[in-house]
Amino acid sequence: MSTRSTDDQFWDPQQYAENARFVSDLGMSVVELLAPQPGERILDLGCGDGALTVKLQALGCNVLGVDASVSMVEAARKLGLDARVMDGRALPFQSEFDAVFSNAALHWMPDPEAVIVGVWRALKPGGRFVGEFGGHGNVAKIVSTQQQVLTEHGFSAENPWFFPRPEEYQQLLETQGFRVLSIQLVPRPTRLPGDISGWLRTFGHQFLEHLRQSDRDSVLSAAVGRLRPQLCDATGAWYADYVRLRFHAVRPA
Ligand code: BEZ
Repeated sequence: MSTRSTDDQFWDPQQYAENARFVSDLGMSVVELLAPQPGERILDLGCGDGALTVKLQALGCNVLGVDASVSMVEAARKLGLDARVMDGRALPFQSEFDAVFSNAALHWMPDPEAVIVGVWRALKPGGRFVGEFGGHGNVAKIVSTQQQVLTEHGFSAENPWFFPRPEEYQQLLETQGFRVLSIQLVPRPTRLPGDISGWLRTFGHQFLEHLRQSDRDSVLSAAVGRLRPQLCDATGAWYADYVRLRFHAVRPA
């Protein structure tokens, strides 16, 4: 979920559970791609509150979860997991894992080369790197609307996330030496549990962190108004315009 070691104030497990439980629910298909076997040693990179890590453990795997957020790691430990606070760009492991798994986390990690080299080192020869995260075009309507509204209010607004094209990420993996068995974009408009403001407050904090509360409120309400015709259907249900990048790579034996 996160690798910025200084961003812990943004991650509230309670808010996350209310607005983002669908993230781990949808991650079960990535677990299927991982095909974990009992007894395997698995690193869950960006484990968040451990909702998927615990499923890997229940399948008989020996799992370590890592995340940069202290509060999320605490929540994962409450599930009885071995979880550690760690920067994904500085993984310290050497040939220890049968697989590295990552769901909805790699887009938070701004230095993908450093992440990939750490994953490579962490894997045993023959080990696999399986994951899913935001790919090219992910939440494009949300990002462009937030950027427009912020600019109109006189604020700067860079896209804080890494959403690569499949060719770009494949190249990064292959440059490190991985063999890429599959990689593709998966468009997945995703029903939200509430309106888009819950998503923006839970995930869009990097757009809003430097604003005063009053500016934050007016930016948020303008963004919600402008996104309604794009992402809210006639019944009032809101959808995030997710596009996942899903991949399966192997460190050759
Ligand atoms: C995602 O899972 O695609 C995502 C989550 C939060 C912010 C940006 C993207």
